[in-house]
Amino acid sequence: MAGSGVFEDIIEGDVFKYYTDGEWKKSASGKSVAIINPTTRTTQYKVQACTQEEVNKVMESAKIAQKQWAKTPLWKRAELLHKAAAILKEHKAPIAECLVKEIAKPAKDAVTEVVRSGDLISYCAEEGVRILGEGKFLVSDSFPGNERTKYCLSSKIPLGVVLAIPPFNYPVNLAVSKIGPALIAGNSLVLKPPTQGAVACLHMVQCFHLAGFPKGLINCVTGKGSEIGDFLTMHPGVNCISFTGGDTGVAISKKAGMVPLQMELGGKDACIVLEDADLDLVAANIIKGGFSYSGQRCTAVKVVLVMESVADALVEKVNAKVAKLKVGPPEDNCDITPVVSESSANFIEGLAKDAKAKGATFCQEYKREGNLIWPLLLDNVRPDMRIAWEEPFGPIVPVIRINSIEEGIHHCNASNFGLQGCVFTKDINKAILISDAMETGTVQINSAPARGPDHFPFQGLKDSGIGSQGITNSINMMTKIKSTVINLPTPSYTMG
Ligand code: G3P
Repeated sequence: MAGSGVFEDIIEGDVFKYYTDGEWKKSASGKSVAIINPTTRTTQYKVQACTQEEVNKVMESAKIAQKQWAKTPLWKRAELLHKAAAILKEHKAPIAECLVKEIAKPAKDAVTEVVRSGDLISYCAEEGVRILGEGKFLVSDSFPGNERTKYCLSSKIPLGVVLAIPPFNYPVNLAVSKIGPALIAGNSLVLKPPTQGAVACLHMVQCFHLAGFPKGLINCVTGKGSEIGDFLTMHPGVNCISFTGGDTGVAISKKAGMVPLQMELGGKDACIVLEDADLDLVAANIIKGGFSYSGQRCTAVKVVLVMESVADALVEKVNAKVAKLKVGPPEDNCDITPVVSESSANFIEGLAKDAKAKGATFCQEYKREGNLIWPLLLDNVRPDMRIAWEEPFGPIVPVIRINSIEEGIHHCNASNFGLQGCVFTKDINKAILISDAMETGTVQINSAPARGPDHFPFQGLKDSGIGSQGITNSINMMTKIKSTVINLPTPSYTMG
């Protein structure tokens, strides 16, 4: 159960504590932030409302701890990460329970998220040992005008304090995708969890605590974005920001100082379907890609662009599968569960109403109870409808019928987003040409967009983000190159 057993230190009364200096603490504010269960729409948990003064102290602890951590042998850092991964997996049940209650993630998927996170941490440890254990040796005589008088030794060094801000939809997995690379690379960490998902994050942090990481190295502050959000992202003690979320990322990028940024800010992933596509495969992928976790994934299929000649057949196949989706509470492992908040449900509803007013075909009746929205396929969507461009983050998938491949590519590229996209065809030559033409960070051929496996590069173009993620890229991003140049008095040529 949440907050019990090995997790009993992280809660006092009914409020979960924040974590710094290797200890669980109560905020001096005496205030808390309520976490509303999306299914019951009542307060499920409470977390501390940390103050700016507390953030200052946390930053100081992180700075001190990092200096020591950077002197800790790489193999020891890896060993601790492996230990944390094992503890996390061992306690998957209570953490998954938090995900079910805080973000209405279907029970089975919640467990998968925790296990995937443990694997991700272990992979970071292994990859870090490999790529951080190597540097470069350069000699000067390859550049015109130089003799071989300079030897350059370059290696990767940590950045310092990494501020990690994960989103509500994968609070544990997208936290560890920042924590793992940061720690193996010798950085310390300040984690600001999303409000929905904060308690799952706090449980995850306790697993790192139990693994025995040095005090101050990992810190987790909770609170209101309005109170500590900007204060954190503009804090002079921060040396790197890794953020996953929505528009807030754009605001952060404008306010952050001279620090490296890693951002993933959503997408409007297009699914282009050609005449020769295997329509059963496409339908299965639209269901998986568009409706899993009720469409609340950055990489969800958010618009289907199908050739007119096969559109009727595809819509029929998708509708048959939509009818089989189980709608209800996450505890019952339903496919479609309540969306994260009432405001989110209202936004989704607004998109559906706009499409209705402008003449889209509703393949199912629009139905909503509280935050629960029934899955909906919208056919005959046109570019003048908001749903053609905006990201619903809900169980609604629009279908736009196209008459040429160019039309599909044009719609995909006209979006402000550029996260992923996918193309379905049996013609690999066409698939490659379309992939090259799509302005997105990744194109999946004959499968729905997805971030994993977690060591694959993951990046968005345009408003979808800054930099690239995936384990290897994140480790590299959270380091800097440091060079030492040995200057010789006379040229020296090996075997010369
Ligand atoms: O930010 C990425 C997330 O929303 C999607 O991840 O693993 O479901 O493709 P995934």
